[in-house]
Amino acid sequence: MAKLSVAIMTGGGDAPGLNAVIRAVVKHGVTELGWRVVGIEDSLDGLLETPRRVRELRREDVRGILRLGGTILGTTNRGDPFAWKPDGNGGGDRSGEVAASLKDVECDGLIAIGGDGTMAICARLHKEAGIPIVGVPKTIDNDIPGTDITFGFDTAAAFATEAVDRLHATAEAHDRVMVVEVMGRDAGHIALQAAMAGGADVCLIPEVPFRWEPVVAKIRRRKAYRRHFSVIVVAEGAAPVGEGPIMTTAPGSNRPHHGGIGQRVAEEIAERAKVEARATVLGHLQRGGNPSAFDRVLATKLGSHAVELVEEGRWGRMVAAVEGRITSIPLDAILDAPPRTVELLGSGVRAARGMAIVFGDEGA
Ligand code: F6P
Repeated sequence: MAKLSVAIMTGGGDAPGLNAVIRAVVKHGVTELGWRVVGIEDSLDGLLETPRRVRELRREDVRGILRLGGTILGTTNRGDPFAWKPDGNGGGDRSGEVAASLKDVECDGLIAIGGDGTMAICARLHKEAGIPIVGVPKTIDNDIPGTDITFGFDTAAAFATEAVDRLHATAEAHDRVMVVEVMGRDAGHIALQAAMAGGADVCLIPEVPFRWEPVVAKIRRRKAYRRHFSVIVVAEGAAPVGEGPIMTTAPGSNRPHHGGIGQRVAEEIAERAKVEARATVLGHLQRGGNPSAFDRVLATKLGSHAVELVEEGRWGRMVAAVEGRITSIPLDAILDAPPRTVELLGSGVRAARGMAIVFGDEGA
């Protein structure tokens, strides 16, 4: 039987561990199973542009990348082939060209590593354009439905925890309230993890619309027992009751993204609690850097399982980590599923409340 020829791409924002997946697919697929693996540059751009930007990935191309952040293939979070316009504004349907282009580069199918947006596109490419695809979920936000954990999260949360630790020192030295804004989009997983691991006093997450009074009361209570400083972790998507998240548009971009709640919290708290408050935004520092050991191993397991699925001809699936096991779910199961947000009655929030961490909904 002819050996398989498989394309691989990374889509959406980068997350630590992407290179570990690429390496796993090449090592397992090429070295162990004799496949040909073709890397597509910058998500589907490399397949749809003329000239195409694709290159064969051999064993030597993935040497030394296990520990590296970013992605050797490049990525983009613009460009849905069903509504294609390179600037991401929506346009024509180029899904048929994806299938034709894959054939042209003599690939039997595609392993796509990406977030919820990429997985949704992959589900449609499989269902509507008949493209054989296996998806590998990634995101620092840890919010993809169907998998208990995504690689990138552990590294991002560890970085955020270190930031909380460092800010604690200054908060205590100067009797200040230090506010740290973390990423996570509409999910508070990074914030909750960093607040718990860093021993923060307040944790504001998108899942819990907050009021200012409980936050101010917490700072005053701490002052009353001579703790003149506080540390607040706020997820970028968190918002006061009745308000939406703060969005902003970066220079040179036409796509709004979350950002600004940290500064708003610092200003409100300074005014309401009569304290000095400073905000730090961790931003993309959480996404870069070398993946943690946990993320390297998770990414390797998921990449290797994707190879197993392809070898067995089980296309149209997304690899997943469920209850400690590496498995897979149908790709289209994630199409209508809501993001996997923080469980309000889960062990994390319950334990955090047990540690007197305030979420801003107390006494409501
Ligand atoms: O989904 C990952 C993530 O880092 C989010 O936490 C954040 O809201 C978003 O991407 C930022 O995206 P961009 O880098 O495109 O602004």
